[in-house]
Amino acid sequence: MRIRPRRNRASNSMRSVVAETTLKASNLVYPLFIREGDGVRDPIASLPGIERLSIDEAVRDAEKAHLLGVSGVALFPALPESLKDPRGKESLNPEGLLQRCIRSIKAAVPELMIITDVALDPYSSDGHDGIWRDGEILNDETLPILANMAVAQAQAGADMVAPSDMMDGRVGAIRDALDKAGHTNTAICSYCVKYASAFYGPFRDALDSAPKAGDKKTYQMDPRNVREAIREVLLDEEEGADWVMVKPGLPYLDVVRLVREATALPVAAYHVSGEFAMLKAASANGWLNYEACLMESLTSLHRAGADAIFTYGALDAARILGNR
Ligand code: PBG
Repeated sequence: MRIRPRRNRASNSMRSVVAETTLKASNLVYPLFIREGDGVRDPIASLPGIERLSIDEAVRDAEKAHLLGVSGVALFPALPESLKDPRGKESLNPEGLLQRCIRSIKAAVPELMIITDVALDPYSSDGHDGIWRDGEILNDETLPILANMAVAQAQAGADMVAPSDMMDGRVGAIRDALDKAGHTNTAICSYCVKYASAFYGPFRDALDSAPKAGDKKTYQMDPRNVREAIREVLLDEEEGADWVMVKPGLPYLDVVRLVREATALPVAAYHVSGEFAMLKAASANGWLNYEACLMESLTSLHRAGADAIFTYGALDAARILGNR
């Protein structure tokens, strides 16, 4: 045999010099669930190790993330049912939980990127991302609410707003509203290619935000499809998105690769709650090595073409990368 591919794998040094993908802590974004209170770290049963944090605790974790080299945090507010209504009006409250949390984190760690979710579901008594009426999700009536929500978040200090609602035309509506309000430097990460996935289960437990009726299939994408991913990317690019996201992550690596090739914009991938919960559950049973499988998952997302990776394992991964 003249050709032996194993020669390039013979030692740690050989493997390192020929490695094609290098995951860095700076590729990572850490999602944080926040709630009211003081000194509260409220565990989430289906997301072992992840907690709903009061603002002071969220600030601590944000500081930790920054020290570890993680680039940003993505904030998700968990609200009591009493603050939810059909139009999600609490989302616009300048003194609301999310807005206060943005200000506190910005004051403590100004360099850390704050990415905020734009969608009705954490605020909606119907648990949908848009306005629900008689079983329908109303696209055009939802747009001004999303636009105002993004402005409220930018006003509080968000660096990047991330519409995750999948209404048509929302990126353009948000860009116009931000610009009109003077927030021309607030970026938009569009959850552009977001599938109607069963892997979001633990996230909905965390926020108690599951739809009260129906599902999200009339707005989130059909997992059988990939051509429409390109359509969504091209549209959001034209509407002014700064990043485009594919979500979930691992089950959609083919989509990440395709999106990477279809656009010059940075691509994000969301290693979602169900993907993280699977790793935790299997490792709790002694069936998988959590750390090794986490690193392999995140490296695979990066190899497929994701520049930014949203993951509940961001702090763990950053720690591991720092110790290498
Ligand atoms: C809400 C939103 C969801 C996630 C991020 N933003 C859930 C959903 O669409 O139902 C899921 C994230 C995860 O599962 O980790 N618009």
